[in-house]
Amino acid sequence: TTEDPGELRTPIVAVLGHVDHGKTSLLDKIRGSAVIEGEAGAITQHIGATAVPLDVVSEVAGSLVDPTEFDLPGLLFIDTPGHHSFSTLRSRGGALADIAILVVDVNDGFQPQTEEAIRILKDTGTPFVVAANKIDTIPGWNPTEDAPVQQTYDNQSDRVRSQLDEALYELIGELSGAGFSSDLYWRVQDFQSNIGVIPVSAETGEGVPDLLTVLMGLAQRYMKSEMEVNIDGPGAGTVLEVKDERGFGTTLDVILYDGTIRQGDQIVVGGTNETIVTEVRALLKPRELAEIRTEKRFDDVESMQAAAGLKIAAPDLDEAMAGAPVRVVGDRDVEAVVEEVEAE
Ligand code: GTP
Ligand code: MG
Repeated sequence: TTEDPGELRTPIVAVLGHVDHGKTSLLDKIRGSAVIEGEAGAITQHIGATAVPLDVVSEVAGSLVDPTEFDLPGLLFIDTPGHHSFSTLRSRGGALADIAILVVDVNDGFQPQTEEAIRILKDTGTPFVVAANKIDTIPGWNPTEDAPVQQTYDNQSDRVRSQLDEALYELIGELSGAGFSSDLYWRVQDFQSNIGVIPVSAETGEGVPDLLTVLMGLAQRYMKSEMEVNIDGPGAGTVLEVKDERGFGTTLDVILYDGTIRQGDQIVVGGTNETIVTEVRALLKPRELAEIRTEKRFDDVESMQAAAGLKIAAPDLDEAMAGAPVRVVGDRDVEAVVEEVEAE
C-alpha cells in the first residue's frame, strides 16, 4: 500500500504469562539482544518496553512477512513480570495492550498466573495469541535455529512430533476450559473468534517467525482502524517507573499510548499527594531495539509519537506515582486536564 506509515500508531503488544515461562527470553530473541542476563535472579520485576520497527519484524519473520504488505510502523512490546507478587503490573500491562501474547510453557501448561493473565485479557477484551514456548525441551528434539514451525515439524521424529501434538492439544483443552475456543494457528481462519496457538522456542528461535507473522496479521487486519488515531494530538501515557537519572534528577519512564509529546510541553502527572503540573525539559528515547528498563544510553529528542517507551525529564517529579497517568495539556485548559488525571 502507499499510505504513510507515520500516520498510524504503533500497536502495543503485551507479553503475559506465568513466572519463568519465557516472556523475557522470547523478547530477547526478537530483539536479538539479551535483557534477561541483566535481571536479578532472572526474575522480571518491572514492566519493560521495546519498540521493534517493521523492518526488524520482517527480518526476524523471514519470508513469512512481506514488509510491503504492512503499513503499521512496527510493534511496541511490553514485557511484564510473571511472579505472583506483581499482579498490579500485569493488570497495568494488560490495560495498555492492543494485543497480547500469552506465553505458556508447553510442558507446564496452565499455571496460576496463566489463569490470572487470561482473566485480565477477558476483562479488558484484549485479543491475544498463545505462544506455546519451550518446544525445544521435548526429549529428542532436533532443533533448527530460527526456523518456521512447519519446517521444524518436518525435522522431528514421529515420536517427538506426537509428544508435541499431545502437549499442544492439552493446552487447547485448557484454553477451552477457560472459555476460549482455540486451535493451532495454521488452522485458524478467523483470529477474532478463535485463538491461534503458535508452538515456539525462545531458546532456538523456532516458531518465532510464525509468531511475528500472526501478530502482524492480527494487528494489520483487525487493529488498523484503531491505529488511525490523531497521533499529532496531545500525548497521553502511563508512568511505569519514577527514577533518578544522573544529570536529569527525577525522571519518569513512560509508555506513551496516544498522541505526541514535545520538549517544552506542559504536562499533568498523577502524584502521591497532589497532581503535578510541570513542563517537559527533555525527552529521552532508548536506542533502537533497546529495552527501557535496562538501557543506559538515551537520545535526547524533540518529540515522540505513540506508541513508544520513553523517559521524561522535568522539574517537580519527586512525588510522581508509578501507574499514574501523564497528559500533555496542549491547547486545552490546564484545570480540565488536572480533573481528567484525578478522575483516573
Ligand atoms: P518472569 O519474567 O520472571 O515471569 O519469567 P519469564 O517468563 O520472563 O521467563 P524467562 O524468559 O526469564 O525464562 C525463564 C527460564 O526459562 C530462563 O532460564 C530461560 O533461559 C528459560 N527459557 C525460556 N524460554 C525457553 C525456551 O524456549 N527453551 C528453553 N530450553 N529454555 C527457555
Ligand atoms: Mg521476564
